[in-house]
Amino acid sequence: MDDLSNTYPTHDPEWVRDMHADHYLQSWSKQGARPRVITGGQGSWFWDSDGNRYLDFQSQLVNANLGHQHPKIVQAIKDQADRLCYIGPAMGCDVRSELAAIMTEITPPNITSTFFTTGGAAANETAIRIARHKTGRNKIIARYRSYHGATGGTLSLTGDPRHHLTRADMPGVVRMLDPYTYRLPTGHADPANCPVAQGGPHLEEILMYENPNTVAAVILETVVGTNGIIVPPDGYLQSIRETCSKYGILLIADEVMAGFGRTGKWFAVDHWGVEPDIITSAKGINSGYVPLGTMSVSTELHDWMRDTPLPGGLTYAGHPLACASGVAAIRAMQDEDILTHATEMGQKMRAELTRLADKHPSIGEVRGLGMFNGIELVKNRTTKEPLVPFAAKGDSARPMTEMMAFAMDQGLYLSFFSNVIRLTPPLNISEQDMMTGLEILDRTLDIADRECS
Ligand SMILES: Cc1ncc(COP(=O)(O)O)c(C=O)c1O
Repeated sequence: MDDLSNTYPTHDPEWVRDMHADHYLQSWSKQGARPRVITGGQGSWFWDSDGNRYLDFQSQLVNANLGHQHPKIVQAIKDQADRLCYIGPAMGCDVRSELAAIMTEITPPNITSTFFTTGGAAANETAIRIARHKTGRNKIIARYRSYHGATGGTLSLTGDPRHHLTRADMPGVVRMLDPYTYRLPTGHADPANCPVAQGGPHLEEILMYENPNTVAAVILETVVGTNGIIVPPDGYLQSIRETCSKYGILLIADEVMAGFGRTGKWFAVDHWGVEPDIITSAKGINSGYVPLGTMSVSTELHDWMRDTPLPGGLTYAGHPLACASGVAAIRAMQDEDILTHATEMGQKMRAELTRLADKHPSIGEVRGLGMFNGIELVKNRTTKEPLVPFAAKGDSARPMTEMMAFAMDQGLYLSFFSNVIRLTPPLNISEQDMMTGLEILDRTLDIADRECS
């Protein structure tokens, strides 16, 4: 028999790039890219085949909340692989039950049971199906500045430009505006008097037209992630919660990015004491080491499902390797007091960014919560003209793409959406590393300043 082990020169970065460009299909991208080949990572850093080191100010896809190669998570995956790699979702399994129990420790008090998925989209897809079955209603209200996943239903709910790219069109999606206080709807200067920023009054108006008896759920990112880091004003989520309760509409909090310490609490809803009917999460639950998502429901929904089958399922629901890594990651976060660290580092980061705003006229707003931060860039602070247009592509996005490339060359991995740079390093980043990243960001922002008038 041929020895296939050395058939491919996987050690050769050029070969890896060739195969990437010609035989691998990359998400949300035109094909043919020839990327840097990443050969390792540790903590807040990763490195490439040329020996260049990068500070991960993005935590990859905002999921490596404990950074790269956290030893306790890696060990838990190895130990579970030695014991039992896979057992079907209907079987009892120690790590699956353990993770379900831990979830009840850290979710709001009304949330008492969890369906484990392979990621955020499957969690949201299952959540909206449950909402429709439970209420017997069809419509789901979602917001414009949102990303909920890449499956048919979740892309239909997604408001960001990928929604148009894919022509996702699940019937029954209704949209509302976001509490985007930096750019309130025309005619409103003060969030305190703006129905959209208050939440409930805007939702009431939409329900008046839609008929509340046809609406199953409101789904929202508690803190908007991909679409520009938007933190709701105090009172917003409570107000949405009250309006949903008034009409028997379920509230689904999508905490896929905001959850697991990203904002300095286990879940962003904890900042305001809000109890959604369903919380979905993924990403930070195990720092992304094995695919894992969660859909956690209230006791009321769980009791309903004692008589009504859960309308959904996955071969890999509650995968033992994923559950073992989730248990290890949450315990590590508790042992290392990550929520406190994230809160403190987040405050320091925003203070430093505010200092940078004194120097860089392109910074229109610094915003964020915990380690979920962003800076919105403008050409002019008075007019607030965005540095690049919404959803800019190609040449119109040039200053942003130039900044990303410059930062990467300087060893800082950043990301952006439209005119917002997102700053979401691992929650356990050291202060020294964070300052190193902000120093590179400082130099990077000179590119944006050149566009200012
Ligand atoms: C808020 C939010 N919801 C859902 C998803 C989809 O998660 P996944 O890619 O794991 O399906 C994402 C992914 O970025 C997200 O940010």
